[in-house]
Amino acid sequence: MASKILIIGACGQIGTELTLALREKVGRDNVIASDIREGSEDLMNSGPFEIADATNYNQIEDLVIQHDIEEVYLMAAMLSATAEKFPMKGWDLNMSSLFHVLNLAKEGKIKKVFWPSSIAVFGPTTPKHDTPQTTVMEPTTVYGISKQAGERWCEYYFNKFGVDVRSIRYPGLISYKTLPGGGTTDYAVEIYHEALKNGKYTSFLNKDTELPMMFMDDAIRATISLMEAPSEKVKVRSSYNLSALNFTPDTLAKAIQKHIPEFEISYAPDFRQAIADSWPSSIDDSEARKDWGWRHDFDLEKMTSEMLEGIKEVYHV
Ligand SMILES: NC(=O)c1ccc[n+]([C@@H]2O[C@H](COP(=O)([O-])OP(=O)(O)OC[C@H]3O[C@@H](n4cnc5c(N)ncnc54)[C@H](O)[C@@H]3O)[C@@H](O)[C@H]2O)c1
Repeated sequence: MASKILIIGACGQIGTELTLALREKVGRDNVIASDIREGSEDLMNSGPFEIADATNYNQIEDLVIQHDIEEVYLMAAMLSATAEKFPMKGWDLNMSSLFHVLNLAKEGKIKKVFWPSSIAVFGPTTPKHDTPQTTVMEPTTVYGISKQAGERWCEYYFNKFGVDVRSIRYPGLISYKTLPGGGTTDYAVEIYHEALKNGKYTSFLNKDTELPMMFMDDAIRATISLMEAPSEKVKVRSSYNLSALNFTPDTLAKAIQKHIPEFEISYAPDFRQAIADSWPSSIDDSEARKDWGWRHDFDLEKMTSEMLEGIKEVYHV
């Protein structure tokens, strides 16, 4: 029998697609989706759903016991741009939810944990190009500090208590099924919607800001494949670098213009520019490729066609 999975923060940009993909794989009733709010119609109709607060240990423990859960994917968090506005709330949510799940695993109530980290763990003193797996990490955002601390705790719980926790440093993720939730790379999703709706877009990052990015399908495949890897292959227990494509707003606009020649982009950088400037422009993910066979599939052209088609279908634009 498939082990039962709990997804916390299932209604977000990643959680929605992860829930649908896991239900497809292991059966709808084996994946319990949970969040503090209801999600899209697709998600709500696809299987069991529970309202639960990731910062409330008792609520999460109850779900685990009631549904006989073996694996938890913790996707609830406050993202980079929002956490700069609400630093203490961001820190509390990001850290307390992680401790609750790690402690459930330490107590033997669950067997396996997925917790996402981010390229935000890096900072201005990190090598910007081909950022190595192990390098200087001095994050300058609340979000980055919480992710770096989280990585240290994951590794600690693995070394000290044998907790089987697995993690990926996601780059900016691009998808059309669910809107992004307050990150610095959200421009790379908004631009497609605006290109189709209005034929123009004002980017909050400047023209030449290169950042690592990935299409959601690749991110979901990576996540499931890391969770399925035999334990001995998962050598990094803090979080794996993961990479697919790197581009600037200018390059992305040019890729869209191949489909919509009249599309126009302009630039009005805001507070998110400083966050983006502190992050790497490309990532060396050779350890993920070597340890558990990671390969990306979507390049800029393939992703752009998929995004434009997907948005037309979902939003009827
Ligand atoms: N999307 C990206 O580009 C990206 C990149 C790097 C890392 N990540 C990480 O991946 C994870 C998921 O990101 P996302 O983009 O899906 O975020 P999101 O903001 O789209 O979704 C987060 C979900 O968590 C829920 N949530 C918030 N507070 C909660 C609480 N107290 N209890 C239960 N649920 C709560 C929200 O309602 C939301 O549905 C986060 O840890 C994020 O830091 C995302």
